[in-house]
Formats: sequence, structure tokens, C-alpha cells
Amino acid sequence: MPESTRRLFFALWPDAVVRESLAAISKQRLRKAKRVPPANLHLTLAFPGSVTRPVQLCLETGAGRIVAPPFELLVDHAGHWPRPRISWIGPTRIPAGLWSLVTALRQVLEECGLDPESRPYQPHITLARKANPGTVAGEFEPIPWSIRNFSLVESVTDPAGAKYLPLRCWELEG
Ligand code: 2AM
Repeated sequence: MPESTRRLFFALWPDAVVRESLAAISKQRLRKAKRVPPANLHLTLAFPGSVTRPVQLCLETGAGRIVAPPFELLVDHAGHWPRPRISWIGPTRIPAGLWSLVTALRQVLEECGLDPESRPYQPHITLARKANPGTVAGEFEPIPWSIRNFSLVESVTDPAGAKYLPLRCWELEG
């Protein structure tokens, strides 16, 4: 029997207040695009993809060993990537704390036998897919986001679209 897998990613998962602010920008800016539902908005840190149960356990153990301090993020920038046709918002400045967390998680993925990520890290919150350029352009009131923890999230494909289920959360300390 083939081993069952789950599609997982590590993410910064917004609290209700930040989520509402992100959703408000999305709603104001992306009237015509296929918007990511507010409940799915997040910032990906690392993407293990489809993994077996032992790999999931390895990732959880590794994540639990990470020692990294909390940090502040300012979501102040909008962009559009033409090739995946993604409209997004993200931080102009990447705080040192975010770099350390992403570096530590990429190391955990490698320790668990996953391929190293070759692409540079570009923190972003996808607001819409199959979006046309220009839809998210312009200034917006920056959204302050205090990062106190990070999550392991499962992506489940539902007939109605992707659903993201946070499985576990680790506090940042130091
Ligand atoms: P996205 O925001 O650019 O769409 C769940 O699918 C999350 O994992 C999404 O945030 C998605 O990024 C990200 N993701 C999907 N495939 C990925 C990949 N191959 N590499 C990195 N992140 C990926």
C-alpha cells in the first residue's frame, strides 16, 4: 500500500486583528481578482510539500528545537509576479528575526531529508492568484504584525478550493 502523505508548510499565521487588516487591503485593492479567502491568508516560511508521517514527525521535532526571538514585521509593500500571476503584499524590510527563523527552518527541512530550497526567500502574503498586473498597486496603510510564534500548517484540497489547517504552533522566545 502506498504510504500516505500530507502537504505541509511552515507559516506565520495571523491573529484575528492582523487577518482582518490583510483581508481589508485585499478587498479594497482586488475587486476583480480571485481573492484568497480571509481564513487562508498567511506568510509562508518554508515549504516541505507532501511528506510521510515519519518526515512530519522529524519536522515537528526540528521545529521544536528552534531557539529564535520574537520580532516585529511591517507589511507595507504590494507587488505582482507575472509568471505565477500572483498579487501579494509583504514587508519591504526583512527583519533579522525573520531571516533567522527561515534559515533555521530550511536547515530542519534538510535534516529531515528534503531537498534544499534553491530559491531566494521572498516573504509575501498571497492575496490573489490568476491576478492581472496593477490590481494591487499603490500605497496602503502599513500593517504592523508582532511575530510571537510560527505554525505548521496542512494544505487540504477541498472541492471548494484549498483549505489550510494549522496543526501545531511554536512560541518564539529569547
Ligand atoms: P504562495 O503564497 O506563493 O502561493 C501553501 O500552498 C503555501 O505554500 C502557499 O503560501 C504557497 O505560496 C506555498 N507554496 C506552495 N508551493 C510552494 C513551493 N514550491 N515553494 C515554496 N512555497 C510554496
